[in-house]
Amino acid sequence: MTITSLASNEISVRLGNAPIGAEIVGVDLAQDIDAGVIEKIKEAYYRHSVVYFRNQQLTPEQQVRFSRRFGELEIHVLKDYLLPGYPEILVLSNIVEDGKPVGLADAGRVAVWHTDMSYLKEPSAGSALYSLEVPHSAAGGSLGDTMFASTAAAYDALPEDMKRKLAGLKAVHHMTKGYDNDATASSSRITYSDEQRRQVPDVAHPVIRTHPVTGRKCIYINQLCVTGIVDMPDEESAPLLEALYGHCTRPEFVYRHRWRVGDLLMWDNCSVQHLAVQDYALPQRRRMHRTTIKGFVPF
Ligand code: SIN
Repeated sequence: MTITSLASNEISVRLGNAPIGAEIVGVDLAQDIDAGVIEKIKEAYYRHSVVYFRNQQLTPEQQVRFSRRFGELEIHVLKDYLLPGYPEILVLSNIVEDGKPVGLADAGRVAVWHTDMSYLKEPSAGSALYSLEVPHSAAGGSLGDTMFASTAAAYDALPEDMKRKLAGLKAVHHMTKGYDNDATASSSRITYSDEQRRQVPDVAHPVIRTHPVTGRKCIYINQLCVTGIVDMPDEESAPLLEALYGHCTRPEFVYRHRWRVGDLLMWDNCSVQHLAVQDYALPQRRRMHRTTIKGFVPF
């Protein structure tokens, strides 16, 4: 692990071996953080796409306050899973209390790589996940890891003729594709009402988008929501998308986060895809609070 001290000595950034992912140490996110420190955190976040802070003790207010430093927050369309009193917090959990799920189990259970809310006209810029309960195996190791794949590194590694082929293409994103699909429906408890579906119509986004801050090009398709490519027959788009999904998640582009209680981890939804590993079940409990930062129309 390398330790890179940023220009300020207030925080330091520890890098692992993956092309993305960095631990930021020296910050208590429960405090009202100084603007200069926020700038350092942003610098690390945009550079490494995934950053995490260990040993945090955050109230919902403190998580919301910190997340707002990165932009306006989304209110998820699945209102049943918002934390009571904190509509900016989506509860992700497999826990059932009094016969009722305390949170959305599916965000951690749909076994496909995705980026959060890519089906919006202005998809989420980033997400911040705070871990309150982490499942463990009988041997004591943590379960329920989250994997992140760099879509910017994946773009850089594409052959030049493929970059040319993808330039200018748009993919269609559909909110409930992953949940309408037989393969994933069996593990899903989400049902979207007709009204919720009407609120979020399909949208087309560039297959290659430019990061609004770093300027890096990123592959912006995902298995959970993309149904096809505009003006391309399915016989042509399906194998192309499959090849790109496989390419984006090659092991050399991936960082795997092993959760501990008290982690606050943020990821950039433009430059990474993620996948929650489903290797646990009740009575192993997992509970996370997610805030999601609003984004812009991709270009
Ligand atoms: C998500 O897909 O947004 C949540 C990932 C996780 O629960 O690890």
